[in-house]
Amino acid sequence: MKIIGFIASPRKEGNTAWTVHKILEGAKEQGAKTESWCFNDLDIIPCRGCFYCKNSDRGCVINDDMQILYDAIECADALVLGSPVYMGQMSAQAKIFTDRLFAQFSPRFSPYFKEEKAGKKLILVFTQGNPDSNLFRLYFDYTKKMFELLEFDVKEVYVVAGMRNKPAHEREDLHSSMKSLGSSLALEQF
Ligand SMILES: Cc1cc2nc3c(=O)[nH]c(=O)nc-3n(C[C@H](O)[C@H](O)[C@H](O)COP(=O)(O)O)c2cc1C
Repeated sequence: MKIIGFIASPRKEGNTAWTVHKILEGAKEQGAKTESWCFNDLDIIPCRGCFYCKNSDRGCVINDDMQILYDAIECADALVLGSPVYMGQMSAQAKIFTDRLFAQFSPRFSPYFKEEKAGKKLILVFTQGNPDSNLFRLYFDYTKKMFELLEFDVKEVYVVAGMRNKPAHEREDLHSSMKSLGSSLALEQF
């Protein structure tokens, strides 16, 4: 099992990075191969909407670091996408990445859908300052639905709330819950 973590926060030592790394740690302990990418280390520009990816079989025309991620995703069995909540939504870095997935995945209802691309496992993890993990529930449910329409097998949407009171690494409860999330993903125990 190959699992890739994506960190969509500009803070490399922040709550999202810590959370994604803990999930991967749990997966690794169960024998999964893991790797992680921090979007802020990469040069990934927004989708141009040129439809080159759909009108040819040569993928995305933009020659930036997303090309590295396309290859990585192709080889992965499961993805973990971690984002801080910014203004009630995923970060801009996460949104740019998500839009660029259009070159690799298409919704089932679209004319571009390819069956063989369907079914990659995905965990979404959000960290937020506000302690109420249900505050943005509508948005999290909507985002889950959006990834499911892209034919991802969304195993979990985990919201790590209350970061304004205590950073993730100081939360004892999170050490075990994040690791067990990763271990469940590796062992396909969802
Ligand atoms: C620009 C910005 C917008 C934010 N918007 C929200 C928000 O709408 N709701 C919330 O609960 N926290 C919000 N936060 C707090 C972050 O979600 C929270 O601190 C998160 O854990 C940061 O993750 P990081 O440490 O990985 O960067 C915001 C932070 C920033 C910098």
